[in-house]
Amino acid sequence: MESKPLTEHEIGPVDDVKPGFLRQVSVDGVGLCVGRLMDGTLFAVDEMCTHEEVSLVDGYVDGDEVECPAHGSRFDVRTGAVTGEPARVPVRCFALRVEGEKTFVAL
Ligand code: FES
Repeated sequence: MESKPLTEHEIGPVDDVKPGFLRQVSVDGVGLCVGRLMDGTLFAVDEMCTHEEVSLVDGYVDGDEVECPAHGSRFDVRTGAVTGEPARVPVRCFALRVEGEKTFVAL
């Protein structure tokens, strides 16, 4: 099966997303959880937890992980891997590129 090439989409300025905080961003109908690690690294993963339909945006940043507010599943924001159950399916990670005041996500 051929995979679709990635397309970059501007998600607007996210400079104001402070370390440890998360924000919901929608791109082409895809919900993203955009956040910033304490070291300043910006990341984007699927908005919805893979355990149940709960937004990770209402969760917490801890180290390199985001924790779901519902049942505590944890995901590595650099790989999407599950690092804490009950979720068993990884989230997708999306590459971000910052250019001046603009930020782009590849979907
Ligand atoms: S909905 Fe996220 S851990 Fe259950």
